[in-house]
Amino acid sequence: MKNIQKYLEDNKDRFLNELFEWLRIPSVSSNPDSKDDMYKAANWAKDALLKAGADRATVYETEGHPVVYGEKIVDPNKPTVLVYGHYDVQPADPLDLWDSEPFEPVVRKTDLHPDGAIFGRGSCDDKGQAFMHFKAFEAMVANGFLPVNIKFMIEGEEEIGSPSLGKFCEDNKAMLANDVILVSDTSVIANDVPSITTGLRGLSYVEVEVVGANRDLHSGTYGGAVANPINILSEMISKLMDENRHITIPGFYEDVVEATAEERVLINEAPFNLDDYKKELDIDDVCGEKGYTTDERTGIRPSCDVNGIWGGFTGKGTKTVLPSKAYAKISMRLVANQKPKKIAKLFEEYFKSIAPDCVRIKVDYLHGGLPVMTPIDTPEYRAAENAMETTYGKKPIPTMEGGSIPIIALFEQILGSKSVLMGFGLNSDAIHSPNEHYGLFNFYKGIETIPYYFKYYSEMK
Ligand code: BES
Ligand code: MN
Ligand code: MN
Repeated sequence: MKNIQKYLEDNKDRFLNELFEWLRIPSVSSNPDSKDDMYKAANWAKDALLKAGADRATVYETEGHPVVYGEKIVDPNKPTVLVYGHYDVQPADPLDLWDSEPFEPVVRKTDLHPDGAIFGRGSCDDKGQAFMHFKAFEAMVANGFLPVNIKFMIEGEEEIGSPSLGKFCEDNKAMLANDVILVSDTSVIANDVPSITTGLRGLSYVEVEVVGANRDLHSGTYGGAVANPINILSEMISKLMDENRHITIPGFYEDVVEATAEERVLINEAPFNLDDYKKELDIDDVCGEKGYTTDERTGIRPSCDVNGIWGGFTGKGTKTVLPSKAYAKISMRLVANQKPKKIAKLFEEYFKSIAPDCVRIKVDYLHGGLPVMTPIDTPEYRAAENAMETTYGKKPIPTMEGGSIPIIALFEQILGSKSVLMGFGLNSDAIHSPNEHYGLFNFYKGIETIPYYFKYYSEMK
């Protein structure tokens, strides 16, 4: 372990420069024009795995963006860790809100990252975090310490709901066979408060269309007499929650497993400062379901949010128009044991039931994923706990996070393996937002911690 840590120290700058190369490739999975860049980013990862010491690495075609797979099998009788990550990133827009180019990474200091942070799309979510595994692997191989087999699966469609990865897993079960899946795509509570993610919310994502007249109308000639779909859509959206911000869709909470009193105590024991939270977001107050704390609202309670709403005239100046159509994209975050398709169906039934006769409604289910709960009484979890305790000097706290990684539940169904969610980002790292960044402390701490995971895991198995 000493040699590994020295190796990491000696190669810090090179690691950073290598990551910068990957970050410069704008692999935005949702952008149809990014096809070439998706291949570039995938090939870059394949080459990086080979250079780091993989026996083999391949870019696999799928119906969507390619999957990168690599492995080093030291002994087929030893356990196998599969590292999962994603090389696709969210769109960078709105571009004018970035202080530096999203695909030209730079290091800048921030209040929470006094040693500097890498600014760039994908720096934290997830290229920066996936790359920590490449470098930890390189260090282990270079120092002749790889106590278990290691496989890497880095996909290019996580940010669009992993539409091709389920089939890829089905088709390649033997190749992907493993004892545990290790993922760094989540956060820690703070740099001096390490944590391991034991829960993620699921997701049900729908798009709604509200149609009024067969064409846009003069808002004087027809206004007040014919439905305005934007007015109606707003009315309907306001009926999705009651005054306690409890979701009103009938049956929505039917499958929710309520946390026990003990579990709720535990959740609220995690360090959390509401004033700091408000200050960081520049808000005067938080806003959520009555009767629950902020950590409960994001960790164990479902939510419903309009992600975007459009229609009518939004250009400069004015246009007196009564629009024919209005749209909204609506996501619902789910907790155990809610099912994405069932929730989408309940949403559709309710949404149609509250629509007045003067409009027609269409609801499309776009994608979804199941919530995740990982056990903490397993060698897989304890290895992560010990690893973080070693490098942070503090025992990490199990936490439930509000984000989603839909493929994790599928891994369990298809490959039969549990995941360990050992992420190193901060919630304030602005993933999906302008100025996404990843602390140098976090990047190097991750690389330092991962080899200990392998050490403890191999000792416990
Ligand atoms: N890495 C995130 C998920 C995440 C973020 C987990 C923060 C825990 C803390 C992932 O890349 C992501 O953004 N997932 C999407 C899934 C969706 C596009 C299907 C999400 O949560 O919106
Ligand atoms: Mn991610
Ligand atoms: Mn993401």
